[in-house]
Amino acid sequence: MSQAQATENTLATPVGTTLERYIKRKEAEFAYATGELSQLLRDIALAGKIVNREVNRAGLSRITGAMGEKNVQGEHQQKLDMEANIRFIRALTNGGEACAVLSEEDEHIIETGNTHGKYVVAIDPLDGSSNIDVNVSIGTIFSIYRRVSRIGGPARKEDFLQGGRAQVAAGYILYGSSTMLVYTTGHGVAGFTYENSLGEFFLSHPDIKIPRQGPVFSCNEGNWFDYPEFVRTFLTTCKERRLTARYVGSLVADYHRNLFTGGIYLYPPTVAKPEGKLRLLYEGYPLAFLIEQAGGMAVTGADVVLDVHPTSDLHQRAPLFVGSADLVQELQAVAAQ
Ligand code: AHG
Ligand code: MN
Ligand code: MN
Repeated sequence: MSQAQATENTLATPVGTTLERYIKRKEAEFAYATGELSQLLRDIALAGKIVNREVNRAGLSRITGAMGEKNVQGEHQQKLDMEANIRFIRALTNGGEACAVLSEEDEHIIETGNTHGKYVVAIDPLDGSSNIDVNVSIGTIFSIYRRVSRIGGPARKEDFLQGGRAQVAAGYILYGSSTMLVYTTGHGVAGFTYENSLGEFFLSHPDIKIPRQGPVFSCNEGNWFDYPEFVRTFLTTCKERRLTARYVGSLVADYHRNLFTGGIYLYPPTVAKPEGKLRLLYEGYPLAFLIEQAGGMAVTGADVVLDVHPTSDLHQRAPLFVGSADLVQELQAVAAQ
């Protein structure tokens, strides 16, 4: 190809739709939209860009390793867990639209001081912490509700306990071989890829749909002898059909891969964790909202995740089986036997 042709091709190729332009265009489609949710999504994207930079430099800026403290989950907090936590809370505080944040890393809800903010955000600031120091993909998961507490007053716990179907938006950021932001506001799922040189997220996957079937199952088979019988029976059928086992150990990474290839991710109850390991409010609900928007399913076993009524425990755990609708239904059929 001649230089002239290459230049012509480059000029002919549009730069693409930035997240900013996409949000504005979508806002125009909602008569009642007043721009606050759009601003909230921008604030989350900004924090994602900052965390992306920290993740990419982690080995150099000595923020790998453990803090030497445990979070409310009793899990060792990694320095990057806390770094991400600070970045998202600061971005949401400065953005002005969120009156409170619930974070995996803090026992109680965090008031941002934006008492006139109409939204609250539940967040897993860094998912896949065990992979931070070994350069494996990690992520951030977020879930957004309109507050039910009085605007102008303090946020309340109930703002976060409305149930999965009350979410107005949810999504994740995957810090992987490329950094992607994937989210829904209840009108399908859109994916954006980060262009480092421009510091922008560009629309790369306008309408993500998960295949009804898929070649992948994702679980920690080290827990095999602690799984319920129906899980072992289902996994055995997967192996008999020669499905592929893929498990990164970062929920966001396994979920994202299965979203495109088709497949099922399982974090079942175990003897040690009878409610599973994953937290309902900032892992189960947001990923269940996304998967249903993408044509898939998410269940806790017998129950659909989005229909599970939250208890008063902000950090309550729930089993999670999520991915291609046919595979999740096959699992439920085995569970019902
Ligand atoms: P987090 O790092 O936010 O605590 O989440 C880790 C979760 C999830 O990302 C991953 O799929 C799962 O823990 C891995 O758990 P096991 O190491 O028990 O398989
Ligand atoms: Mn997590
Ligand atoms: Mn986490």
